[in-house]
Amino acid sequence: MGEFFMKKEQIILGIETSCDETAAAVIKNGTEILSNVVASQIESHKRFGGVVPEIASRHHVEQITIVLEEALLQAGVTYEDLDAIAVTEGPGLVGALLIGVNAAKAVAFAHGIPIIGTHHIAGHIYANRLIQEIEYPALSLVVSGGHTELVLLEEPGSFKVIGETRDDAAGEAYDKVARTLGLPYPGGPHIDRLAQEGSPSLKLPRAWLDGSYDFSFSGLKSAVINTLHNAEQRGEKIEPKDLAASFQASVIEVLVMKAVKAAKEYNVKQVLLAGGVAANKGLREALTEAFKDLPMDISIPPLYLCTDNAAMIGAAGSVMFKKGKRSGLDLNGNPGLDIEAF
Ligand code: KG4
Ligand code: ZN
Repeated sequence: MGEFFMKKEQIILGIETSCDETAAAVIKNGTEILSNVVASQIESHKRFGGVVPEIASRHHVEQITIVLEEALLQAGVTYEDLDAIAVTEGPGLVGALLIGVNAAKAVAFAHGIPIIGTHHIAGHIYANRLIQEIEYPALSLVVSGGHTELVLLEEPGSFKVIGETRDDAAGEAYDKVARTLGLPYPGGPHIDRLAQEGSPSLKLPRAWLDGSYDFSFSGLKSAVINTLHNAEQRGEKIEPKDLAASFQASVIEVLVMKAVKAAKEYNVKQVLLAGGVAANKGLREALTEAFKDLPMDISIPPLYLCTDNAAMIGAAGSVMFKKGKRSGLDLNGNPGLDIEAF
């Protein structure tokens, strides 16, 4: 811990390549973004209707050096200024993770900088620390393309999953419903936009899974598809905007109700929204409304910190660095990395 007494500033380089964004960022003292560079591959995956792992890896290889140099340049720092490199170790696509992990190891070895293997979801959660100090205990509602869970943070860098999806993640359900409606990938933002125009007039199920903080979205997804097919067979037309609004209402109602219940039960000081689906306008509004009269603070990151980026990895890495976490040069990509154990 000696370095903290000698040096006032802590400069961390964050690297993220777990899915379809190649990203690097420089974070000062765990909270200040000096640079945040994201090269998105969405255009390359769109025509396939989802992320193609081989294409993702190839793009990461092409982009990683450029993105790293740009992040340092924009931050006005050199490798010599870095205290640590935080890189997404998992979960994610193994071939994609490896590009970031190997880049981190190469730089760390060449310049003698410590590496911190970081959990992607811990990153999404700590994106909130880039907008305000976290007060513990905190509860995070994590809603991304691969994860939907309620995570309790009793202290910095400690994560306890109190509930998670038993099937599809919320983002996955959004993307599948969007696909059924013929909307482009990723479908979440399109459904969100349509939902604002429509009315939630169609009756769709809500999986309450009483007595647990778990979620389930596959029944809802099937109900949406059945509703469309049944109407088609009867020669009736369903307005996509009303279907989008009804689907979104069902997802949001369950997410918000469970978050409120857990926040009360665990008596948390803060509720942190996290993950790509945190960009959802309806969810942001509903969560704000639900916590309006409750004692806990609610933290909702700006849109550019909700979807995948490396600033959040630098922020989470900074917390783990202070806790003394260091990874060796044998760090590997770990697609199934457990947030409670990393
Ligand atoms: O966190 P993220 O960028 O990647 C993962 O770690 O999975 O999340 C991507 C997911 C996609 O499923 C995308 O459709 C969804 O976030 N998403 C949204 C919105 N913006 C992105 N879902 C609903 N409403 C949005 N506005
Ligand atoms: Zn993500």
